[in-house]
Amino acid sequence: MLAVAVVAVFAVLWWVCSSWRDAVSGRTVVLLPGVRAPLLLIAHPDDECMFFAPTILGLFQEQRPLSVLCCSAGNYYNQGEIRKKELLHSCAVLGIPPSNVTLIDHRDLPDSPTVKWDECLLSALILNHIQEKNIDLVITFDEGGVSGHYNHISLYRAMRSLHSSGKLPEGCSVLVLESVSMLRTYVSVLDLPLSCFFHHDVLIISSGRQYQRAKEAMLQHQSQLLWFRHLYLFFSRYMMINSLNFLQDKTAEKES
Ligand SMILES: *[C@@H]1O[C@H](CO)[C@@H](O)[C@H](O)[C@H]1NC(C)=O
Ligand SMILES: [Zn+2]
Repeated sequence: MLAVAVVAVFAVLWWVCSSWRDAVSGRTVVLLPGVRAPLLLIAHPDDECMFFAPTILGLFQEQRPLSVLCCSAGNYYNQGEIRKKELLHSCAVLGIPPSNVTLIDHRDLPDSPTVKWDECLLSALILNHIQEKNIDLVITFDEGGVSGHYNHISLYRAMRSLHSSGKLPEGCSVLVLESVSMLRTYVSVLDLPLSCFFHHDVLIISSGRQYQRAKEAMLQHQSQLLWFRHLYLFFSRYMMINSLNFLQDKTAEKES
């Protein structure tokens, strides 16, 4: 009896949140005025669709260009070669042409959940790319790295050090994807009320159609589609909601 009641309550909540999402999706993309050349900085092939799909699709909805820099081939299980191709296919589904996708496959930046990447090396490679492509906005993970993966966190650390040491080109800002608690991560659309309640610099909510596109992109990562990934696709909030914050100025950072 109780179980039935709980399921019923969930079903109703789910329906309410889904309708709410359909009503607010697209309109909640805060315009990023003046951004010419945003860059999505990720650690592994599949980060783009598992975590950043709403951001990518939201930018395209606003007719913004986008390029991707992926800092490893995802070679933990020796699938690097396959995964490079999967990244290109997934990006193509999301609307990013192969010419806008760069992959760094460096011996000293191995795909591993327990390896902290060398900050100097990583920052130098990233900075080089930013300068070469004239990037004026970098979108990446925050200090929680969404899943706590060390490689994700390394990207944040590298960007934070470039940002706070003033090495980034004039006018180049950094936007980081908020990591939420485990519980919030796996309640899919039910997290919408909380996401709307808390303040973020940018909040992006995918429409139902955009969510389908994100799923389609994930299906390009055939080598990664173990059973639990299918659960992820269904339950993860990151498949439809991205909340992001700008890295603050040097002075503000020192105070905190
Ligand atoms: C790819 O990048 C170039 C600049 O490097 C940009 O002009 C173009 O719009 C981008 N394409 C897409 C689909 O974002
Ligand atoms: Zn990853």
